[in-house]
Amino acid sequence: MTARRSIVLGCGSYLPSRIVTNAELARKVDTSDEWIVQRTGIHERRIAAPGELTSQMAVHAARAALAHAHLDAQSIDLIVLATSTPDNTFPASAVSVQADLGITHGAAFDLQAVCSGFVYALATADGLIKSGAFSRALVIGAETFSRLLDWTDRGTCVLFGDGAGAVVLAAQEQPGGREDRGILVVRLRSDGRYKSKLYVDGGPSSTGTVGHLRMEGREVFRHAVAMITDVVEDAFRATGTTAADVDWFIPHQANRRIIDGSAHKLGIAPAKIVTTVDRHGNTSAASIPLALADAVADRRIKRGDLLLFEAMGGGFTWGAALVRW
Ligand code: UT7
Repeated sequence: MTARRSIVLGCGSYLPSRIVTNAELARKVDTSDEWIVQRTGIHERRIAAPGELTSQMAVHAARAALAHAHLDAQSIDLIVLATSTPDNTFPASAVSVQADLGITHGAAFDLQAVCSGFVYALATADGLIKSGAFSRALVIGAETFSRLLDWTDRGTCVLFGDGAGAVVLAAQEQPGGREDRGILVVRLRSDGRYKSKLYVDGGPSSTGTVGHLRMEGREVFRHAVAMITDVVEDAFRATGTTAADVDWFIPHQANRRIIDGSAHKLGIAPAKIVTTVDRHGNTSAASIPLALADAVADRRIKRGDLLLFEAMGGGFTWGAALVRW
């Protein structure tokens, strides 16, 4: 029996031009390049220009993904934008993306699952495509975390960066097995008992302000590898695949030690890991599509390759997806 799958037709990304090095941060807070590199693997991150909005970065990434897919924006009928840093409290930044792309049909909305946002958005778009309600989707992760950071808190301000990444999904009938192209499975989890481990201390219904990011880094770290490996193993079971079948491991880029620890526990060879955390820092919902676009641009990823995405972050939320390119 054939299956309606969401095929990835293209991907693209955008990074602000300003590079902030660890050395620059060390002039502002009590930290050092050595500490940041040793604990996180981060060497530098990009920071949005004053006035540069999340939706604008999302549009750049979306246009790049459409060009890569050789598609006109008019063929898109669904936009799901994963972000925790929207331009405004409402409307959704996705409708700004829609308007900038000149699309007046279909639907556009934001989705908020912090660092797991891209995996959640992928699951949402995949479900809507499989239902038959939509046929071509832009799934975007875009963030300006620089605007949420407490730049006096060395425990958090050195970790994050800004950027955007996007993929174009299209409905396509496939034979209906694990060799199919497209999204084979997405598994999502959350556990609100951990909501105070990583949060922003403001919001429309509490303080009426935007607030700043607060994190118990050690606590997040403590849970990350176990949660990631658990949901990835669930995705393997659901598809009858194993770590050996994975061609490219494209994790959320929070910390090099979490990435390496997860790969090691899952039995994924280091050579299969796509890493951008050294250059991008943690870009939250944008990190997976940014890393994907990197590995596609330099032709590491080839048609038919099996990709494993995973993410874990505030909520806690976490999730994994298996996608055949
Ligand atoms: O996107 C998903 C969500 N986020 C994450 O996945 C992040 C998860 N957590 C982490 O990546 C790590 O916990 C951090 C990178 C945030 C911290 O690394 P750690 O090895 O867990 O360090 P720590 O928090 O245990 O801190 C060790 C020491 C502390 O000093 P004391 O108490 O041992 O004297 C900190 O005060 O390092 C100190 N420290 C710093 N020192 C220099 C904390 N931040 C810095 C800094 N520079 N930037």
